[in-house]
Amino acid sequence: MAIDIRREREAGSHAGPASRGESAEEAGKLLGQWAMVTGAGRGIGAEIASYFARAGASLVLTELPAQMGLAEGVAERLKSEHGIDALCVPLDLRDLEQIEQCVRSVEAIASMDYLINNAGVNLLSPALNLTQEDWDFVVDINLKGTFFLTREVAKTMVRKKRGSIIMIASQHGVVGNENRAPYCASKAGLIHLSRALAIEWAKYGIRVNAISPTFVITDANEQFINDHQFQRANLPRIPLRKFAVPEDIAKSVLFLATDSAGMITGHNLVVDGGWTVI
Ligand SMILES: NC(=O)c1ccc[n+]([C@@H]2O[C@H](COP(=O)([O-])OP(=O)(O)OC[C@H]3O[C@@H](n4cnc5c(N)ncnc54)[C@H](O)[C@@H]3O)[C@@H](O)[C@H]2O)c1
Repeated sequence: MAIDIRREREAGSHAGPASRGESAEEAGKLLGQWAMVTGAGRGIGAEIASYFARAGASLVLTELPAQMGLAEGVAERLKSEHGIDALCVPLDLRDLEQIEQCVRSVEAIASMDYLINNAGVNLLSPALNLTQEDWDFVVDINLKGTFFLTREVAKTMVRKKRGSIIMIASQHGVVGNENRAPYCASKAGLIHLSRALAIEWAKYGIRVNAISPTFVITDANEQFINDHQFQRANLPRIPLRKFAVPEDIAKSVLFLATDSAGMITGHNLVVDGGWTVI
């Protein structure tokens, strides 16, 4: 069964937050708070940033140095649409010094209430062909860099005795799949890292949770997901028979990050249309 991705994205739950009928309270409920979103120049990260901006949060958007124009475009749009503050900071998660500089460069202005670890990469290859560089590329960004950024941001949260951290993991961190061994391993690592940090940092009032999406249709991968062979192979594995859109993930992040989920920590919220329950 083939689906029309464009129509999927335009339908019902795929409209933007302003058309979703949220109450005025929801629209402004994060006024005066700061959220850092990594890899926010496009895709799921840009959508998460939009949802936090609509809720009134001010933003620190990080992006790869070569992609800063994308983050700046998102920041300008959100500032003019929602009247929030938005700072853009270059960050390559493979560079541990840059991680520290990134956090230090904003801490005088912005004391982070939320950290959304969205930036991540995948690399499709049979495990037998993987090089050390391939492995390090994926694991250094998805797991190692994400941990060190989280630790740096958490230092401020510890001082405030309050904070909420979300890891964007994947269904492939819950169940395996072929040709993506470092991705599966790194995302499973993120889910378990969330649990470990949730236990360790609960005493500081910091909650740590993960969100694990199924395939999400973004501008960058729309063509790939629109491929009939891809759909034939993957849609039957999703009981709801649809792929996710960035709004599905952003809504879940906003719920899990904020006080609506104030009693939830160490959880992995699977947003997969049922992929992992088959
Ligand atoms: N799209 C999907 O189907 C899907 C499914 C499950 C999970 N995810 C996860 O959701 C997150 C966002 O995915 P997306 O589809 O929007 O991807 P994307 O490639 O569109 O966005 C990823 C972002 O991370 C940034 N980035 C890449 N390398 C980086 C590095 N070294 N340091 C800092 N930032 C870096 C990119 O510039 C980009 O802005 C990722 O963690 C991904 O693994 C995506």
